[in-house]
Amino acid sequence: MKLPPISRRKAIFLLGAGAIGSSLDAFFIEPNYLSITEKELKLPLLPSSLDGLRIAHLTDFHYDPDSDYELQEEVIKATNAQKPDIIALTGDFIDSKTKNIAPLLEHLSKLEAKHGVFAIMGNHDGWTTSGNHMKQLFEQTGITFLINENTVLNIGGDLLAIAGSDHIWHGHPDLTRTMKGLTSKIPTLALVHEPDFFDNVVAKREVMLQLSGHTHGGQCRVPLIGYAPRTVSFGRKYIYDTFEHGQSRLFVSRGVGTTGVRVRFACPPELAMLTLKSA
Ligand SMILES: [Fe+2]
Repeated sequence: MKLPPISRRKAIFLLGAGAIGSSLDAFFIEPNYLSITEKELKLPLLPSSLDGLRIAHLTDFHYDPDSDYELQEEVIKATNAQKPDIIALTGDFIDSKTKNIAPLLEHLSKLEAKHGVFAIMGNHDGWTTSGNHMKQLFEQTGITFLINENTVLNIGGDLLAIAGSDHIWHGHPDLTRTMKGLTSKIPTLALVHEPDFFDNVVAKREVMLQLSGHTHGGQCRVPLIGYAPRTVSFGRKYIYDTFEHGQSRLFVSRGVGTTGVRVRFACPPELAMLTLKSA
């Protein structure tokens, strides 16, 4: 079918209208629009007895109560409605203000998961305050905060380790301490803020699954092809979605918040609901 020709003036008008519409979306709509990603992850290192375990993964809040209160309310409501077994929070809770930790924790303290809520440091948290300060505040609300350490859950007789590293960018990640006491027989969920550290993790040992954020999925992506023009240190190789190395798997989330200009395009805030399947 041959399309009718359009005048130069009409073409310019349509391009202008498209640009204005995209800008309105990127600045005023998309940063506030929570999306829920449902994903089944086939994990070679997951025992079949833990098949079906559901993890809610949230990351990169960069919380500012002036702009993010309603979005965060929605995040908590949507997460609890999923009735997850485990909730993993992989860092960058704040952007650059210590005073925003307490109001964010008012939200996060309402999170509910059958086997607990687990959190780690992000680079923005580490640039703003100390790990000890974050750990103290989070653990007062009942959230387990892991810095180069692990905890082992007993789920109906099956062991599952959750190992959280310090942030990588100017932090002090120590994989030996993070994996201390864990044998290869214990399936391990590794929480590491910066995804590119996956290469270091798998060089040391296989992990059932690593969860990361940090990249915000690029924050602005080219629609349809998903190309992210802007990348960040330690988040250049693994920007969004699922990756594998040997028997290990990595999932990188787009995260909830924004850093720099509050803008997102073709890359909305994300609650990732991950259903683990034994492969
Ligand atoms: Fe971030």
